[in-house]
Amino acid sequence: MAATVGNKICILPQRNIIFNMRVLVIGGSGQTGRLVIDEALQRGHKVTALIRDPSTLLAKEGLTIVKGTPLEPSDIESAFNAVQGDIPNAVTVTLASPQVKGTRVMTIAHENLIAAMERHGVSKIATLSSFGVGSSFPNITVLMRFAISRTSFRHLFEDHNQVDETLKKSGVKFVLFRAARLTGAKKAPVQFIGDDGKGLGIFAGLGGISRASVAACLVDAAEKNTWDRSTPVITN
Ligand SMILES: NC(=O)c1ccc[n+]([C@@H]2O[C@H](COP(=O)([O-])OP(=O)(O)OC[C@H]3O[C@@H](n4cnc5c(N)ncnc54)[C@H](OP(=O)(O)O)[C@@H]3O)[C@@H](O)[C@H]2O)c1
Repeated sequence: MAATVGNKICILPQRNIIFNMRVLVIGGSGQTGRLVIDEALQRGHKVTALIRDPSTLLAKEGLTIVKGTPLEPSDIESAFNAVQGDIPNAVTVTLASPQVKGTRVMTIAHENLIAAMERHGVSKIATLSSFGVGSSFPNITVLMRFAISRTSFRHLFEDHNQVDETLKKSGVKFVLFRAARLTGAKKAPVQFIGDDGKGLGIFAGLGGISRASVAACLVDAAEKNTWDRSTPVITN
């Protein structure tokens, strides 16, 4: 379902929401990932978080923490099997990749996750991507286009682009949110601008989107099929 507000396409939520899920959170020790965990728990879901250093996360009711990395298939398998009889229904990913040449942290993690999802019959994955990835590149600010093509940022974006291609080639129901600049502000209404972010103007995405809003979008995407197999640019 979609409506036009000004020159922006707003996707309206659909009704088929999944309640009482178990969400596998990848990147749960990071700034956005922590908010994804809180958002999912607040909505009554259970969460399994696969993280490298469990001491960085506080224990919470409904949260199962598994030590490991998404770069290691056996660690992902442990996370899927962490709670007997309660396989995750959906996966969220809020990983960062180092800005070094040839980095494939996010791509490898997604390759491993897709394989595990297929083994376990799990179809939904919602990933934090970035405005500037794929078809949205021409519509980000000139400054960001320069950074993405000429600075060490390009390594991170190459990894994001590979994730985009990897998910599109797979059979899973993915949602890639191409988020504008991330901020520490509170959760606020979100604009969904379409896959290429066209129409935001020359200051495209500079106002940004709060990590809390992104976390809510990721949990929304895990619950609903509204954005399945799409890559919306999002901003507040
Ligand atoms: N900054 C922006 O304005 C902006 C805008 C749009 C999109 N983004 C995207 O948002 C993402 C960053 O989100 P964030 O700021 O919430 O991230 P963050 O706080 O830096 O957290 C990154 C997460 O990735 C994990 N990680 C990093 N390297 C890893 C590795 N080699 N193996 C396993 N896990 C690893 C970290 O785990 P540890 O705790 O174990 O290190 C942590 O959980 C990036 O993909 C970025 O491109 C950023």
